[in-house]
Amino acid sequence: MRILGIETSCDETAAAVVEGGSRIVSSVVSSQLDVHGKYGGVVPELASREHLRAIVPVVRQAMEQASCSYPELAAVAVTQGPGLVGSLLVGIVYAKAIAMSCKLPLIAVNHLEGHIHAVAMEAGSQLQFPALALVASGGHTHLFEIREGFHYRLLGRTRDDAAGEAYDKVAKLLGYSYPGGPILDQIASYGDPQAVSFPLAKMKGNPLDFSFSGLKTAVLRWVEARNMAAEIEARKQWSRSHPRSSIEEWLALTPPATRDLIASFQHTVIRELLTRAEMAAGMISAKSWVITGGVACNAGLRAAARQAKLPYGVFFPRPALATDNAAMIAAAAFPKYQRGEFAGWELKAHAGLTLA
Ligand code: KG4
Ligand code: ZN
Repeated sequence: MRILGIETSCDETAAAVVEGGSRIVSSVVSSQLDVHGKYGGVVPELASREHLRAIVPVVRQAMEQASCSYPELAAVAVTQGPGLVGSLLVGIVYAKAIAMSCKLPLIAVNHLEGHIHAVAMEAGSQLQFPALALVASGGHTHLFEIREGFHYRLLGRTRDDAAGEAYDKVAKLLGYSYPGGPILDQIASYGDPQAVSFPLAKMKGNPLDFSFSGLKTAVLRWVEARNMAAEIEARKQWSRSHPRSSIEEWLALTPPATRDLIASFQHTVIRELLTRAEMAAGMISAKSWVITGGVACNAGLRAAARQAKLPYGVFFPRPALATDNAAMIAAAAFPKYQRGEFAGWELKAHAGLTLA
């Protein structure tokens, strides 16, 4: 029972074939990092154009790597949203074309549910319900309760920047390349996380909501109060010509005080994420935790979750499944296939699609 998954919600064109909901037969991800890197973030018009360029070869490669022909597929699954509408549209139109011409059912998948299944597909029956899911990526920071059968309830979400977005913005203001999350994560391990004390966001209303824009502003104020212009400009110059530098190269451009600032920033983001997630887990009497999305690659977050010695299993995706990919979309489609939840030809991209 093979499902072809297609994912084009942001800046990765991805296709994968997954068998039985959990065995990845092929997974191809074509990243647009080099296109958007010089703008310091994703440019929606360029993203759509790049998806158009990549979608046919990426899907073909996924099918070839799986040694699979279209009639052997059980269904075609595609990300409906949330994401950039022009980017989503490319995947949806292509998925419809395959499904229609090969007479296959079409399955619409929520991108956030995809991130949750990136973990669920590997954790299998170890994942106990109710589970708490923290989905933290460049576009989202959400807490969900997952009940048996993958039914969701939204518990909290960011009111401003997503966690990954906060990493990318702080990295940009410090002169590092895009995306900044992986760079700051590595530099953080060379600094003192207690050096700068940033307060956690105070939330009025729902205490399970997040906020990261105040932290970003606090970092900016810290930088403005010091004479860092030359140091930052040197990194900016370097990142223009060497966007994919090694950690050693970034460290050579990062004095100890800046390493400490980055370690302290990371420490605060992790505290913000884990404090609210732990609170939510208590409220729903969670039996396990899922931490997923691009930020789940963060070494500091993984270590902190391990050290917290939580009374339930904490499941992270492996890094290749943490960032955007299509295997998670095909996996999330499997229970929908079993329930016969198919989409009609009128399926539309939904930029603000919610999960619960
Ligand atoms: O899930 P993803 O590929 O795309 C979205 O759905 O947004 O996540 C990408 C985000 C970027 O903001 C990137 O900086 C962040 O995940 N990210 C990280 C790390 N690796 C990726 N943030 C912190 N630490 C990391 N190691
Ligand atoms: Zn994502």
